[in-house]
Amino acid sequence: MKRIKIRELLHTEPVGKTATVKGWVRTFRNNQFVALNDGSCLDNLQLVLPLGEFEDKVLRSINPGAAISATGEVAESRGRGQKIELVVSDVKVVGESDPEKYPLQPKKHSLEFLREQAHLRFRTNTFGAIFRIRHAAALAIHRFFDERGFVYLHTPILTASDAEGAGELFRVTTLNPQHPPLTEENEVDFSKDFFGKEAHLTVSGQLEAELGSLALSDVYTFGPTFRAEHSHTTRHLAEFWMIEPEIAFADLEDNMDLAEDMLNYLVKYLLENCRKDLEFLDDRLKKEESSKTKDQRSPMGLTEKLEFCLESDFARITYSDAIDILMKSKPNKKKKFQYVIEEWGADLQSEHERYLVEKHFKKPVILYNYPKNIKAFYMRVNDDEKTVAAMDILFPGIGEIIGGSQREERLDVLLSRMDEMHIPQEELSWYLDIRKYGSCPHAGYGLGFERFVQFVTGMGNIRDVIPFPRTPGHIAF
Ligand code: 4AD
Ligand code: MG
Repeated sequence: MKRIKIRELLHTEPVGKTATVKGWVRTFRNNQFVALNDGSCLDNLQLVLPLGEFEDKVLRSINPGAAISATGEVAESRGRGQKIELVVSDVKVVGESDPEKYPLQPKKHSLEFLREQAHLRFRTNTFGAIFRIRHAAALAIHRFFDERGFVYLHTPILTASDAEGAGELFRVTTLNPQHPPLTEENEVDFSKDFFGKEAHLTVSGQLEAELGSLALSDVYTFGPTFRAEHSHTTRHLAEFWMIEPEIAFADLEDNMDLAEDMLNYLVKYLLENCRKDLEFLDDRLKKEESSKTKDQRSPMGLTEKLEFCLESDFARITYSDAIDILMKSKPNKKKKFQYVIEEWGADLQSEHERYLVEKHFKKPVILYNYPKNIKAFYMRVNDDEKTVAAMDILFPGIGEIIGGSQREERLDVLLSRMDEMHIPQEELSWYLDIRKYGSCPHAGYGLGFERFVQFVTGMGNIRDVIPFPRTPGHIAF
């Protein structure tokens, strides 16, 4: 008989019909009641094994973690908490699980412990919910851009350029590390390497997306990006996924509008399509919060916070205005910030960003027109010649969730910026070509996918929203 997923069974409630379900045992009580989960939804299905109908040998191998297949009649449930159950006539243990050794015991495990068991943590309610939401968010992103006529462009993962110019690159090579070929100057001779030159993992698909945008008008990338940053925080990964739209004949304001529309669309989509998983995570957070002191607790629950974000327009302020606010702020005057803001031009730290979002505006904030000295070479220089048309979107509890800009479309200005920043022209001749043949104002941004998933799931650590996190010193699985 064809298997039906538990989600569909609970949805259609075919009482009186025969059904086959397959999944993994969560618990087995009184030699009679199995809580079965197949990952299709948060809920377990209760299987009832009538007493005396099954061999002891079979019953003894129905243990937490075991994979089973069960066929029976769907019945209205007499127990509380579920509408239907399956009264089983045939059960097979497909894959056994030794209850003495199975790491996931039927009790609450810490997130730290589960990170070490990342190969099994999908089987918990929390991680089941997170990865279903992550899936739905990815789908919603494609839908959002598709509905607006964007083309999904697959930009390369292996690259010869440093898109952000920040030098946080992972090298890719097939040379023998013990005996690499050497040049006359005794340096490693990368002309003998696989690509005949130095190669790296991409830090961003933006530069290639710009090329696509100046022909296809509106494009986006959605792929893995890699940063060899030694950041040990709850917001940084060495491998993360980024969504990077690029729009032609557009300026910074168009860029902000697109980003705000997109974030609203995504949050709305998830509220509509992932209610149960969100409510579960909301409860989980509330329990976690109850162990905190009053002033450490967040003022809103998870779904409440998401709804609030939908209702409020994002605050839009310039970097200069933000500096004014910060210099006048209590924590700055009382030197409570780790980095006290002394003057215009200072790079904002996450403590400053969080002050603006969580204390001052109490809603998402778009900061724009940053000093050009602290931003990337490709950002468009404003008329004041001091700032660039850059924007960062800051979210409560997360800080920077999006970084973007209008791009420098004027060849001469771009060349002098690259000169100032010691970026060799030869390496980016193709990027410069676009400014020679039909250049036009264009803009784009990058959304850090895991930071967004952190925001919607309320998870405090970015390592818990990607299946297999890579951070400095950690590359298990
Ligand atoms: O601000 P970033 O570095 O911008 C870019 O890469 C541009 N090329 C984007 C563009 O304009 N097309 O990164 C964009 C976003 C950040 O706002 C953050 O959400 C996320 O990517 N991000 C990270 N997420 C997890 N771990 C890291 N190490 C991250 N670095 C950036
Ligand atoms: Mg940034």
